[in-house]
Amino acid sequence: MRLVLLVLLLVAGTVKGDEDEVDLQQHLEKLSSQRYPIESNTQNRDTIREYIIERMTNYGLEVEQQKFNTTISEDPIGIDSQYIKVQGTNVIGIQRAVTEHPGAVVVVGADYDSNGVDDPLFHNGAGVATLLEAARLYTINERWSGRYVANYTTIFVAFDINTKLHKNSPGHPGGYYFVQNWLMPFLKQNTDYFGGAIILDSIMNVNYNIYTQVLSNNFQEMFPETYGRLQDDSNKGNFLAMVSMGDKAATETLRDQFSGSYRKNRRAERFRLEDMRLQSGMKFDNLLGEFVKSDNIHFWNAKDASNRTVQLPALLLTDTKAFRNMEKECVTDPCRAVDLVTEERLEFVEATVRSVTTFLFNRQTTRLPEQPSSGMSNLPSAIMTVLMFALVRLHM
Ligand SMILES: *[C@@H]1O[C@H](CO)[C@@H](O)[C@H](O)[C@H]1NC(C)=O
Ligand SMILES: *[C@@H]1O[C@H](CO)[C@@H](O)[C@H](O)[C@H]1NC(C)=O
Ligand SMILES: *[C@@H]1O[C@H](CO)[C@@H](O)[C@H](O)[C@H]1NC(C)=O
Repeated sequence: MRLVLLVLLLVAGTVKGDEDEVDLQQHLEKLSSQRYPIESNTQNRDTIREYIIERMTNYGLEVEQQKFNTTISEDPIGIDSQYIKVQGTNVIGIQRAVTEHPGAVVVVGADYDSNGVDDPLFHNGAGVATLLEAARLYTINERWSGRYVANYTTIFVAFDINTKLHKNSPGHPGGYYFVQNWLMPFLKQNTDYFGGAIILDSIMNVNYNIYTQVLSNNFQEMFPETYGRLQDDSNKGNFLAMVSMGDKAATETLRDQFSGSYRKNRRAERFRLEDMRLQSGMKFDNLLGEFVKSDNIHFWNAKDASNRTVQLPALLLTDTKAFRNMEKECVTDPCRAVDLVTEERLEFVEATVRSVTTFLFNRQTTRLPEQPSSGMSNLPSAIMTVLMFALVRLHM
């Protein structure tokens, strides 16, 4: 009898399943370990890769592993360290629909290795958690509940080994291999089919204290509007940067669509999105340097079949990393992961999850009209509830 009750509870749970609840913790707790690609981290790396594959498969995505060889510095901080050859694996989850149509294919991506220096939960555990959670919310509402139908192909990718974020590693990063050796063939070398990429790189550090946003040398010149808002607000680190390159129509569309989704989902007024636009030929400084180490650069600098540079639309979402002071209200030293994931930070990341998901629904799917029989779909859960009450009373 107890078994029956258990089964009923399980069934009722799946029937009722909440389709909008964001649950980042389930992923974040897996992402605090070191994942710099050296021997001693092999087990951590295997565990997280298997987790990503398992989750993506579970969400109903078609999963591919793209292996590549690259060269890294064996010691993440060593200047004189020797170089070693290592193998990386990009994990790619595909939600297949129409691909061969202008602007059809959208990519959401995040690095899942760590750079051996910064906290792996921030760099870039939170980005990977957001990637997985957006994939879950997208597929649960598209594939399983039937509220939306996908018109265009969406690709979720966890990039491995971002050598550009290592202190001193010479090889190409996973993002490069993804764009050149996987995405280009997938698009049959026709870049018109590509709609854009959203790159999640370091997105959990929000800081509401004054003078916590560090300005770079040409900040004012590069981003005058953002600079003005920062000045008016005593340089608080209370925004998510949306960094784009150039003003092509496809880039403008991507920016408008993402910022529209973000504003719609921003419940509190405490943080905001800053639209930070780069133009080629800008004076190089350390902030700009930070923006071109993430995977967006491989889209901005893609090479077509005849080795010509094509600028594919891509947005980098970031808390600006080293340019934002990190508050550590922590009793233990080093901080435990659980102390770092504060309510404040979770709320900030959740807004990004919701925005990415809304953006994907708006851009990639069609919302289906409510089924006339939708009243019926609540019936099983109603029956279950009644049955459960009856059973529980029997057992009391
Ligand atoms: C990586 O290197 C190994 C050993 O040299 C080789 O067997 C493997 O095929 C290479 N993989 C790729 C994807 O090039
Ligand atoms: C999207 O797909 C649905 C279902 O296949 C179809 O009815 C609708 O016309 C499609 N919309 C576009 C814009 O292709
Ligand atoms: C493509 O061009 C770059 C220089 O822009 C060059 O270094 C590289 O070798 C070329 N690759 C091929 C396959 O031709």
